[in-house]
Amino acid sequence: MFVFKAAVVGAGVMGGEIAQVVAAADIPVLLKDVDQEFVDAGLEKAREVTEGQVGKLVSKDKLTVEQGAELLERTLSLITGTTSYDDFGGVDFVIEAVPEKMDVKHAVFSELDAATPGHAILASNTSGLSITEIGDATNRPDKVVGFHFFWPASFMRLIEIVEGEETSQATLQGAANFAQAIRKTPVRCAECPGFVVNRILTSTASEIWRYQDETGISAEELDAHITEAAGMPMGPFRVADMSGLDTVAKVARDMHDAYGDRFYVHKGMEELVERGDLGAKTGKGFYEH
Ligand SMILES: NC(=O)c1ccc[n+]([C@@H]2O[C@H](COP(=O)([O-])OP(=O)(O)OC[C@H]3O[C@@H](n4cnc5c(N)ncnc54)[C@H](O)[C@@H]3O)[C@@H](O)[C@H]2O)c1
Repeated sequence: MFVFKAAVVGAGVMGGEIAQVVAAADIPVLLKDVDQEFVDAGLEKAREVTEGQVGKLVSKDKLTVEQGAELLERTLSLITGTTSYDDFGGVDFVIEAVPEKMDVKHAVFSELDAATPGHAILASNTSGLSITEIGDATNRPDKVVGFHFFWPASFMRLIEIVEGEETSQATLQGAANFAQAIRKTPVRCAECPGFVVNRILTSTASEIWRYQDETGISAEELDAHITEAAGMPMGPFRVADMSGLDTVAKVARDMHDAYGDRFYVHKGMEELVERGDLGAKTGKGFYEH
């Protein structure tokens, strides 16, 4: 299956960058959200990332300034922002990136089922929800698949291709091919809460969160220790802020519900979410942004 046109639904922390990744591979892509304000923020993110990539190529003399400007314009011209499904009749592959809530996913997949051609693959960027359950909202569960990027999507190479109970082999192959077409590395995995990467990451983060809640050490100080000791570019509290605390806390809660007490839900994070301090996207979380 060849993807002539793709779409991304949800232009938040992940969606804008995912659309950029698709456009940077020369594939036209629609970027849909419920409000023009969110669409514009997603388009702005795509511009920022493309400018960064082009800037690097120019500074390394791989492109002239003129070629860089041309590449920037071409990449951004391939992304069309929208608040409606009007142009979804011509898409072959959709990546859903709306909030990590099953009722929201269901509403979107049912709309996508109606708005897209029958052959289109409907993929979800869910961090850990059941693909089988998401597929139940459609008349084509065989064409529903997990397509899980990692933050920041423009930089991280891995995509987990998650197989629901009804996902067909052709869909899995189509998703893996599309991942490669957008220059990512697909890894096929079975459906279980957290899939592979978040199951490992959240388990590690659980111990760090538990320690912080128990000792009251500042998140900033703990981040500094971990980045220094483990040579990581960012500590877990800053990563959580950048990813969105509502999403991280929801994934942690889902993992705790699925696997029990060995997965921990950070109390301080839940309080921040309750107050609406969701990290970088609202300007405040563990850090000021
Ligand atoms: N943030 C991360 O680090 C990360 C990493 C991997 C996967 N994910 C997953 O990606 C998905 C999106 O996460 P996010 O962090 O980008 O969330 P986000 O809250 O930043 O963005 C979600 C966007 O979806 C929009 N939206 C809500 N309902 C919609 C609808 N009906 N139609 C179109 N748009 C709608 C919202 O307005 C918002 O802009 C979640 O399933 C999450 O688990 C997130």
